[in-house]
Amino acid sequence: MAVHATGNQQHAVPNLVTKLLSWFSTHARDLPWRRTRDPYAIWISESMLQQTQVKTVIPYWERWMRELPTIRAAAQASPGKLHKLWEGLGYYTRVRNVQKAAQQIIAQHEGRFPENFDDILALPGVGRYTAGAIASIAFHQPRPILDGNVVRVLTRIFGITTDPREKKTNAQLWRITEELVHYASRITSTLRSPPSAELLRRTGATEDGHHASSCSRLNQSLMELGALICTPRSPRCELCPVNHLCVARHRGWQAELPKIGRRETATARRFIAFVVERRGRFLVRQRPAGVVNAHLWEFPNVEIGARHSGPQRVVTADSAGFHFTEVKPFTIIKHSITRYRITLAAHRAELANSRSKPGGHWLSRSQLARRAFSSAHKKILAQFEPERRSPTRSASKLRPVTSRIGDRRS
Ligand code: ADE
Repeated sequence: MAVHATGNQQHAVPNLVTKLLSWFSTHARDLPWRRTRDPYAIWISESMLQQTQVKTVIPYWERWMRELPTIRAAAQASPGKLHKLWEGLGYYTRVRNVQKAAQQIIAQHEGRFPENFDDILALPGVGRYTAGAIASIAFHQPRPILDGNVVRVLTRIFGITTDPREKKTNAQLWRITEELVHYASRITSTLRSPPSAELLRRTGATEDGHHASSCSRLNQSLMELGALICTPRSPRCELCPVNHLCVARHRGWQAELPKIGRRETATARRFIAFVVERRGRFLVRQRPAGVVNAHLWEFPNVEIGARHSGPQRVVTADSAGFHFTEVKPFTIIKHSITRYRITLAAHRAELANSRSKPGGHWLSRSQLARRAFSSAHKKILAQFEPERRSPTRSASKLRPVTSRIGDRRS
């Protein structure tokens, strides 16, 4: 199959835009960042939503906005606080970029979020998609967006059968989304009668009752269609507002599009972690700058060969040079990140080469709770027994031996 969208694209645009705007008016989810027009709040939501699902992001965004309600607060927050607010979202470069960008806004824009598109794009961590989302949602500018969801929606509607990661196809998709948002910007309103308060709230009315622009609504309708209807597997075509315009639907190509080349195969990796407790304190270390999960906390650990098996042949030294004795299985954590399928076998242990090693910190349970841990190691912490209140017993007992848990992503 080889279909090129450019032929019928011109004809389809007005129809698509009208239908999408009207559908969004009645089907948009009531998301907290849709109740504000504050560019800072919208930027934080877009940063969190890169790589992360809406339902996961909501409580993180709400907590962030409570704790760091302004650009200045984000610029001045300690790295520990920032990482704690992002803990569990992954891809921590995002949060470090948010702070760098906040500091740039203070230094170069007097603390006001820039409205100029090139200034937005110049902020650390802000690419063409995020700049387009902020410019259209916060500032009503007809700027296009293209992310994985929108690629899926557009390749299906227009029957684009080439790989969207190829330069030419990618440029074609940006051209289409640009046309859509430009057309939307010329429509003043698709509403026949004055909108109800509920409708205004759903589609981005702010507290002052100001209605989201059609650029904002068009871009968010593409995201929303990709999230709710035009899903990767089993799309709900019967509910789609533009199904009559969709090439994939007419030709039965939904499962084939987007036509992404073969994905990298998953790689299995195995680690051993050591949980050492002394008088209610646990040995942990902080990952250095410049490595994966930089600045996050973890238990001492070491990577072992993927084929290494069985606790009976446990390695007793971690990668920082700590040595352990009395090593006993505690729990097995499964964790997936990008293309890695990680197995982390946590063991209780005693420290052999006690005091001399640098880099280790002995922290109490409450201190551990205040540090940001990498996701896999946070799952080890979650296996600790609840702290006892009784002062007569050790306040921090580990659960005895091997509980085996799977990947418990919420
Ligand atoms: N994904 C990315 N940005 C989004 C937004 N503003 N609303 C819903 N989902 C999104």
